[in-house]
Amino acid sequence: MPDEQPGRSFRYFYLWRWLPGAGKRSSPVFAELFRAPADNWWGYVTNGGSEGNLYGLYLARELHPKGMVYYSEATHYSVQKNLHLLNMSNIVIRTQDNGEIDYEDLEHTIRMNRHMPVIIMANIGTTMTEARDDVAKIKAILKKLAIQHYYIHADAALSGTYSALIEPRPAFDFEDGADSIAISGHKFFGSPMPCGVVVAKKSNRDRIARSVAYIGSVDTTITGSRNGHSPLFLWHTIKRLGIAGLKSRAIHSLATAAYTEQKLKALGIAAWRNANAITVNFPTPSASICKKWQLAAEQGNSHIICMPNVTQMHIDLLITDLKAEMVLQD
Ligand SMILES: Cc1ncc(COP(=O)(O)O)c(C=O)c1O
Repeated sequence: MPDEQPGRSFRYFYLWRWLPGAGKRSSPVFAELFRAPADNWWGYVTNGGSEGNLYGLYLARELHPKGMVYYSEATHYSVQKNLHLLNMSNIVIRTQDNGEIDYEDLEHTIRMNRHMPVIIMANIGTTMTEARDDVAKIKAILKKLAIQHYYIHADAALSGTYSALIEPRPAFDFEDGADSIAISGHKFFGSPMPCGVVVAKKSNRDRIARSVAYIGSVDTTITGSRNGHSPLFLWHTIKRLGIAGLKSRAIHSLATAAYTEQKLKALGIAAWRNANAITVNFPTPSASICKKWQLAAEQGNSHIICMPNVTQMHIDLLITDLKAEMVLQD
């Protein structure tokens, strides 16, 4: 970090832009992907998306100790745990059928608690259906209600990285109104060990910074010692693929998802997908298919997340299994 000396261990990690043609000026990859304010951002490599979300909520609580946290019912289970750890008041908001937050319910609920600062945990890709809450719409609600004190954290565990690379660009980042964004490094980036990245506004992180003599640095992170290999894997992936390579990964995943949806529909299965999502949703198939293909199931719904390693060949194999089962049932 510009204002800190490197600690004696991997206290933080700074991903420099290496991209061909980027010129000599070094610049932060994730801060740029998430359109963070150029002179007011900070971030670190976490142990995963859950820690990044904990960090966002922690900053929010320090800024607004009397704030109320709003999050949709499709939010990842770790958020409730984090809220419990931080002892923050919170309200669950309804979701629409696609898993996106119900903006009417959000507005109505905030209206009833207008005396309290608002803290929003927005999902940028829910766990089950990969629905994205629209941060710009949420900001518009806050403006409409004349809410002066608020904080928006984007839980972009799965979709954050590639949402920054697609058109139309979903409204999820700093320019859209987020104050912090967390992603998982072992999802779209494919790190072999769990890790993540959180980016926040530096001015907010400065409020929690504490100087610690024996590490020769300021303490600004949730965990102390962290896995030093995680930043290397992230750096390696960025260096190997570049933004162009990450973009083509996203395009590949989206194309595989479109293929999957179409193949399932051709079998008469009610498959569907959120716009620009790599997750294909469909009614949970038989227990044996779920076991063989390790399909998650929740309230009768399953999904296939077309991560970059998933190809049409994998989908064809699954389709063959589904077809065989249908023939047996006839
Ligand atoms: C939407 C969402 N948020 C947070 C998490 C937690 O991320 P991690 O496993 O990296 O802690 C997940 C994990 O699946 C997720 O889907």
